[in-house]
Amino acid sequence: MRSSRSSRLLVLGFAAAMCGGSIAVAQIAKTPPATQFSWSDASLSPDVRADLVIKEMTLDEKISLLHGQNRPTEAQTVTRSNGGAGYTVAIPRLGIPSIQMADSAYGVTRGAAMGRYSTALPNNLGAASSWDTAMMRTYGELIGDELRDEGYNMTLGGGVNLTREPRDGRTFEYMGEDPLLAGTLDGNVEAGVQSRHIIGDVKHYAINDQESGRTAVNANISRRAMRETDLRAFEIALQISHAGAVMCSYNRVNGVYACQNSYLLSDVLKGAFGFKGFVLSDWGGTHSTVRASHAGLDQEQPGDYFYGDALKKAVEDGRVPEAELDDHVHRVLRSMFAAGLFDDPGKTQVPDVEKGYATAQHIAEESIVLLRNEHHVLPLTGVHRIAVIGGHADVGVLSGGGSAQVNPPGGSAVPPQADKGVLPVSIREAWMPSSPLRSLREALPGAKISFTSGDDVAAAESAASKADVAIVFVYQWESEGLDLPTLNLAPEQNKLVESVAAANPRTIVVLETGSPATMPWVDKVQGVVEAWYPGIRGGEALAEILTGKVNPSGKLAITFPESDADLPNPNLVTPPPSSQPHPPADKKKRAEFMKALRYGLPAFQTYYNEGLKVGYKWYDAENKPVLFPFGFGLSYTTFAYSDLHVTAGKAVTVNFTLKNTGGRAGTEIAEVYAALPPAAQEPPKRLVGWARVALLPGETRQISIPVDRDRMTIFDVAQDKWELAPGSYSILVGSSSRDLPLTRPLTLP
Ligand code: BGC
Repeated sequence: MRSSRSSRLLVLGFAAAMCGGSIAVAQIAKTPPATQFSWSDASLSPDVRADLVIKEMTLDEKISLLHGQNRPTEAQTVTRSNGGAGYTVAIPRLGIPSIQMADSAYGVTRGAAMGRYSTALPNNLGAASSWDTAMMRTYGELIGDELRDEGYNMTLGGGVNLTREPRDGRTFEYMGEDPLLAGTLDGNVEAGVQSRHIIGDVKHYAINDQESGRTAVNANISRRAMRETDLRAFEIALQISHAGAVMCSYNRVNGVYACQNSYLLSDVLKGAFGFKGFVLSDWGGTHSTVRASHAGLDQEQPGDYFYGDALKKAVEDGRVPEAELDDHVHRVLRSMFAAGLFDDPGKTQVPDVEKGYATAQHIAEESIVLLRNEHHVLPLTGVHRIAVIGGHADVGVLSGGGSAQVNPPGGSAVPPQADKGVLPVSIREAWMPSSPLRSLREALPGAKISFTSGDDVAAAESAASKADVAIVFVYQWESEGLDLPTLNLAPEQNKLVESVAAANPRTIVVLETGSPATMPWVDKVQGVVEAWYPGIRGGEALAEILTGKVNPSGKLAITFPESDADLPNPNLVTPPPSSQPHPPADKKKRAEFMKALRYGLPAFQTYYNEGLKVGYKWYDAENKPVLFPFGFGLSYTTFAYSDLHVTAGKAVTVNFTLKNTGGRAGTEIAEVYAALPPAAQEPPKRLVGWARVALLPGETRQISIPVDRDRMTIFDVAQDKWELAPGSYSILVGSSSRDLPLTRPLTLP
């Protein structure tokens, strides 16, 4: 059954990325052995080494590190680049390698297109449901290993934009709605990537919270809200990862393009956060030379329109001081040294496919969230006849599109839609060849498992009525460049669920979505499982969860609201036609169009008036019921919380007892929230800590979670600093943001 979403909203960034300007000629040059230079001494600091190089560089060489060479075409890749989204040239004379960048949000992209292999991991929001920092590091290490194997030395992954607008088509690439959770998990991914001597990246800085008109939109938001929410996620991710790069975003923030916004780039990122790496623009997100340079943009990507000859001229004229230029160059080189690009250039090889598959499956098993399980319909035990229905479950699992798209080995398991002439290949549904049906049949050899596509509702009803259990697969495809018009699934998918549930009360729904979905049928089905876009071993992981070989442990990193009407902005803000033109077919007009893009499109406004109230903080503050709250997820066992003690020394320590009260081993994610004193003027509570705890049946454990005081601070805009509000705090502990049985007051001196 195919989703009939014709009203998806197309935005322009892809055009910007795909239709570059002039193409400079470059080569992947053989670099001389690194030992012959003064900066070859690896015992020197990256800063010292960068400065030693800079002393030897000509102006042209410096400029060449500050811009890309345009996205290469397939034919050019052999001599020019490794085939990734962008690169900077090598400078063989000085032993400087080229920076070869590949998108790699949930796996290395374009790998398969180049005849190489990449592992598609579960998508980022999915993996974030594990709340597992160690596993997120493994996620990054795997991406780092495969980047190296494929000849890349920089990732373009690391999306950590907080979800203010869950219909954002890139919600699947981000890590949910809480700054501590998202920043911590993303930081671990990028730390993992960097451990493989790859330059890490954190993106898209900042407030790039919708795709509709992303190159034109002006996000209006208060400084306090920015610092405490969206920017806080970046800050935490950078503290943990020391990523070498930050990608600034397409949109404007409070009237100024993010890539020339001195508050964002200089005051906050390079100033307050102490970021030592370089800022590169999103693809086509540079809009000026002198202004952007002063504001703190270090590198233009993917081309050289503003940072090629124009920058050279600006330096020669004195409009860009040499010290400013050198700072940009220093940052690029420093990140290259810090990540190990000079000392350990790596060599290409075939990635370890088996390791990738096993890791992908393990991560998927930790990512899947059991949302509903009435009458213990799951796990599937003692069932003889199962009707699997819909969602292409016979052939594969869905993946997220856009620049993050990892190619399914052998092509999409479901033939791609016809090219309607506007969308690049990466913005079409692609299915990973990992069949849940096949895995279920292997896991339950004694059961009779039928498959019905769901296209014919009567056939689906008939199959369901003859089975002990019906499992309906539904999905919502998402991609960069498009927002979802609604969180509702396509009407025919909702109808399919309703019909099957009417035919068989023992109905389980498996969702493959990149954002929350509404579920008008939720009370009529007994089971609901959120599988996200579960990656190359998604089918196998689902079978393990459904059959109970693996006990689910994932918890939502994002709230599932009851309806679009409950969102802070019930109506998705869409651009007027002038801010969302389509690239014209006519060559000359197209060139004019690209020029207009370079300098910027007319702005339209989005107002994030919910401010501090992002995600669960919004629903809490507004007293809105939700479908499934932030932090929620069931297990096949049960857990009990008791005995909360809170001690406030240098750090706050939260101690409590957790018991597995059910009949099987399981892992609980125990969550700690803080309610701040009224003087703080904050939403009702915020996440301040958590622990993943594996317990055997009947096992009891004392849990101790340290909470840094700075997790409880608020940002004082007038004084430009973080502070603890005076008054009395509460610490709340439990299994989700809306199930917090333990509370203790806390006074902070
Ligand atoms: C996306 C970035 C991506 C870049 C290169 C842009 O359109 O917004 O996230 O890294 O393209 O592919």
